[in-house]
Amino acid sequence: MNSIFTRTSIRRYTDQPVSEEQIEKLLRAAMAAPSAGNQQPWEFYAVTDREMIGKLAACSPYSRFLAEAPLVIVPVYRTEGLRFPDYAHIDLSAAVENLLLEADALGLGAVWCGIAPIAERQQAVREALSMPDTLEAFALVGVGVPAETKKQQDRYDPARIHRI
Ligand SMILES: Cc1cc2nc3c(=O)[nH]c(=O)nc-3n(C[C@H](O)[C@H](O)[C@H](O)COP(=O)(O)O)c2cc1C
Repeated sequence: MNSIFTRTSIRRYTDQPVSEEQIEKLLRAAMAAPSAGNQQPWEFYAVTDREMIGKLAACSPYSRFLAEAPLVIVPVYRTEGLRFPDYAHIDLSAAVENLLLEADALGLGAVWCGIAPIAERQQAVREALSMPDTLEAFALVGVGVPAETKKQQDRYDPARIHRI
């Protein structure tokens, strides 16, 4: 898949909205991810409301730029009924990576802003979205039509490979 080698973190977006069809494709890709015991702990808030995006952008010192994003997707995870709750963050990471790759494949730009496992950021997102106690915030993903272009760094490093 080419997007593995073209995706970069895009933090500047045009005013163009992300279409409903694109939002569905992004979330289909996220939900196609593997998860421990196939537990699929995820749910997603897809936020286009400008006031709410402003509140979410303020939930982490490193996500302020999201205030200008046309779409913020908030991957969250269930805290009840999971067979392997210790794997929830790992499952969500796989889902977020799928989402980022799909955004790139659709010609969109996206960035993962860390929320979990920082308790105060998770609490800030919970309050902003009035989330129920049965859900916990994982990340903020800004998405939009890119207003910047970047070439992916080549991070391949043979010194990190142990051949046995
Ligand atoms: C767990 C995680 C948390 C991140 N949090 C932030 C963040 O809060 N703000 C931000 O601008 N980028 C964030 N990033 C994006 C990284 O800065 C970015 O992936 C890294 O610099 C490599 O650049 P690239 O994505 O363009 O390859 C995060 C990425 C990961 C995987």
